[in-house]
Amino acid sequence: MNTKTKMLEQLDAVPHGFSLPQAFYTDPDYYQVDLQEVFYREWLFAGHDCEIPTPGSYFTLQIGAYPVVVVRGKEGNIQAFHNVCRHRGSRVCKAEKGKSAKLVCPYHQWTYELDGKLLFARDMGADFDKKNYGLKPIHCESIGGYIFISLAETAPDFSPVRNHVAPYLVPHNLADAKVAFESTIVEKGNWKLVWENNRECYHCVGSHPELCRTFPETPTVTSVHGAESNPLLAAHWRRCEAAGLPSAFHLSQDGQYRTSRVPLLKDASSYTMDGTAAVSKPLTELGIGNIGALLLFHYPTTWNHVLGDHAISFRVLPLGPMETQVTTKWLVNKDAKEGVDYTIEELTRVWTATNDQDRRIVEENQLGIRSPSYQPGPYNQLHEGGVIQFVNWYRRCLGQNASASSSPLSRGA
Ligand code: FES
Ligand SMILES: [Fe+2]
Repeated sequence: MNTKTKMLEQLDAVPHGFSLPQAFYTDPDYYQVDLQEVFYREWLFAGHDCEIPTPGSYFTLQIGAYPVVVVRGKEGNIQAFHNVCRHRGSRVCKAEKGKSAKLVCPYHQWTYELDGKLLFARDMGADFDKKNYGLKPIHCESIGGYIFISLAETAPDFSPVRNHVAPYLVPHNLADAKVAFESTIVEKGNWKLVWENNRECYHCVGSHPELCRTFPETPTVTSVHGAESNPLLAAHWRRCEAAGLPSAFHLSQDGQYRTSRVPLLKDASSYTMDGTAAVSKPLTELGIGNIGALLLFHYPTTWNHVLGDHAISFRVLPLGPMETQVTTKWLVNKDAKEGVDYTIEELTRVWTATNDQDRRIVEENQLGIRSPSYQPGPYNQLHEGGVIQFVNWYRRCLGQNASASSSPLSRGA
């Protein structure tokens, strides 16, 4: 029996509402299936438009075995390519970020236009046709300042995400913001444990003293059901929508993404120790106001908090069966000046602490799960509805994708 079939059979055998069997969090073969059926197919958050503001600016990232480069073209368009030279396969762009008029492979200097066309390949002879050796493109979309890519040969339809999420994000002007600070941490835990931890706040009161000063841990806020019946939330949505900010809770039909704008505790306006703004210049002319936090997640790579004074994006990329990279970016108004309008310390304090606390939680979780004595345990129905929803999405995603046509790996895309 191949691994994929074994996984699907095991998923059928485990009761819904329980954590997954051990191998889903530890086994290298299961991890390969996750890459193939989830990360090599779905839309993934790659980075922000504002990180590549001008033609020739680019950033790179690694999705499983695939090196990727995302670049701003001559016309200002954003494109993604396999970061693999068509000569003998070297990575073309080595830096995490950079700017270059052309993309030049460091090995033998084959030179590509920003649109991926091969422009120059020294001494390849008269018969060599450069047209056949452009960089391979990757599906790429940008909405409200967020760049998504898909490695699939035929990408899932992005229009439902665009149609729903763009109105929530666009008013925050994040395409024209700047990344004031970013951090990348490695959590020694399976990517699904990172998500399971993110999707509940059952642990918050015991672990996140800084975050709990301003972030409400109530399940109607943090979970995926019951939001509509919370009068505080409904009043917040009404107020924000009257100001032109789409706010109501929405979970996509397939369960892959959710938007909801939630009020912070005690009328706090930002994730700071005293709840006041960390950045004096708001992201937009809407002001800092009392708009709370727009919460957006999109499986399997991103969750986000967009406030009046700044936004925080999180990107989750798997590094191995028990290792996950989490990159956090703090976005502020591009005209805000460090040391004048904000300090990095104040801006990042709460989430730097929270990330580190979550990393330790995930690593402890992974250590326990590695024990032969581990067996799937029951999720808390009140507080862990979000986790149950994530695991159900994962089950569906694996089932659907595994039964669809062959994966990009086997197609050699
Ligand atoms: S491998 Fe890129 S130029 Fe040779
Ligand atoms: Fe947490």
